[in-house]
Amino acid sequence: MSKIRAAITAIESHLPDYVLTNDILEQMVDTSEEWITTRTGIKTRHILRGEGKGTSDMGAEAVKGLLEKRGIKPEEVDLFLCSTVTPDMKFPATANIISDKTGIKNAFSYDINAACSGFLYTLVTAAMFIESGKYRKVVVVGADKMSSIIDYTDRQTCVLFGDGASAVLLEPTTEDVGVMDHIFQSDGSGMIHLHMKAGGSVKPPSHETVDAREHYVYQEGKAVFKFAVANMADVSVDIMKRNNLSSDDISFLVPHQANMRIIEAVGKRMCLDKSQIMINIQRYGNTTNATIPLCLWDYENQLKKGDNLILSAFGGGFTWGAIWLKWAYDPPA
Ligand code: ACO
Repeated sequence: MSKIRAAITAIESHLPDYVLTNDILEQMVDTSEEWITTRTGIKTRHILRGEGKGTSDMGAEAVKGLLEKRGIKPEEVDLFLCSTVTPDMKFPATANIISDKTGIKNAFSYDINAACSGFLYTLVTAAMFIESGKYRKVVVVGADKMSSIIDYTDRQTCVLFGDGASAVLLEPTTEDVGVMDHIFQSDGSGMIHLHMKAGGSVKPPSHETVDAREHYVYQEGKAVFKFAVANMADVSVDIMKRNNLSSDDISFLVPHQANMRIIEAVGKRMCLDKSQIMINIQRYGNTTNATIPLCLWDYENQLKKGDNLILSAFGGGFTWGAIWLKWAYDPPA
């Protein structure tokens, strides 16, 4: 019997309406359009506004659009996974909340948190359920309201992040497409460089933690940059070598969108031309769990069945990894 693989058969995204430009950020903190553009490549990011709106609202919109696009009913989904670092609440899982908002009621659902590598880890987890033969329609959503954990008085982080959500449907196939291979790694000693200081069990929220602004992303940018370039590049090259893929075999690198300079350095190590790299950081910034599916969504019309894609990410934890994915369908009419 031929091997069952997990293929992405549809993709849909949701971005909130409000657009935060570099010009507006110039009014908020001591920064400049020139610094942001040259150091990060970011021009605009979408921000979710409105009382009581959270990650699940964006995730639910992406999932509703996804099911409609593929023409399936929410009741047909049998597993639903959400990767996020900004859950609506500490519990229940945001996946449970999105399931309720979208009518996914015959599935079990849970969240996975692996920071910026979360979508990759979650995609492979979902693929393994499909490969088991027991699950036929698995939805994965990567969603983050990063604006809820960003300090808009800290110029080192507030220019980097945006909000958004993107969802994919995975279905079984016996064709030579889908999730082909992955290499994942993590190193908890990287925690010191990128974390949120308070709000967890070590330092529960208190007046003091709020006054000390400890409920926001803390990032030592330079250190993270160094680890991100080295590890994303190593793992991307390793997965190509392991599968005898040359740069000519790769249709696109689909990199986590944290910094244009990181993306370019990884592409260079893989000997890729710039035209082989998916880039949309200029419009969305770093949406953490949504960056990679947002790229696939933006480039959907340029993808053909059988295209070799290398998905690659690095994030808090540290966590990093790469997936070799063979695209499963031609551009929608
Ligand atoms: N505007 C103007 N100046 C700034 C700004 C700003 N927004 N931010 C920092 N600076 C200044 C610094 O204060 C510093 O000034 P100094 O030299 O007088 O001290 C100078 O610019 C250089 O600062 P660096 O931090 O060295 O700048 P760098 O070139 O490293 O860029 C950045 C910073 C963009 C954060 C980069 O280091 C980066 O992208 N790091 C990796 C981010 C990443 O990959 N994160 C992982 C995923 S996120 C997740 O998992 C949640």
